[in-house]
Amino acid sequence: MNLNEFKKKAAWAALDYISTGTVIGVGTGSTVAYFIEALSTIKHLISGVVSSSNSSTILLKKQGINNILNLNTFNSLEVYVDSADEINNNMQMIKGGGAALTKEKIIAAIAKKFICIIDQTKKVNILGSFPLPVEIIPIASSFISNEIIKLGGQPKVRKNVITDNGNIILDVHNLHIYDPISIEKRISLLPGVVTVGLFALRGADIILMGTKNSVKIIEK
Ligand code: 5RP
Repeated sequence: MNLNEFKKKAAWAALDYISTGTVIGVGTGSTVAYFIEALSTIKHLISGVVSSSNSSTILLKKQGINNILNLNTFNSLEVYVDSADEINNNMQMIKGGGAALTKEKIIAAIAKKFICIIDQTKKVNILGSFPLPVEIIPIASSFISNEIIKLGGQPKVRKNVITDNGNIILDVHNLHIYDPISIEKRISLLPGVVTVGLFALRGADIILMGTKNSVKIIEK
């Protein structure tokens, strides 16, 4: 099973959802890196992009996509293309493996359509095998860790990672997320939490899942 091939297929399939003259939200990660390659082939047709991370901005520029726009200049975006660490049957996701969850969540919030590009291993029944990333203000680390332990998870500070926003990431292990909306709300409300990497209140609209023989399209 060549996961990179599956990611690439899904990423290229996302081009079908891009209309001429629109601004595209661009996520972060290895699957999105393939999408950025694909997007460069139609860069003359789009009006610009909004980037979810410094690392994606670097890749976009490398591909000659230089019209990178400030998120504050938009109230809505037609399409946001990003991947996920896990996605369930209700299109709810764990994201943040690449530490870009905060900007990703903001872009997802203003996007009319969230297209999630994945390889088939990302599709799960219950979220939580992948440790749930939570971006937090550094001084709140011990308080938030204790609160998360009460919820049944085991938080670990991600080593050697400072986010684009100057914060740290707690990766929460062993949390079986049976009610993603409730967990998203509970963790979001803890003082010191910037963003929890559960995208349940605003999930994906379309999944493009690369498999051996095809790209499977799953719609809400
Ligand atoms: C980054 C993310 C990514 O979408 C997620 O980590 C998946 O990455 P990859 O495509 O490398 O598997 O949420 O913050």
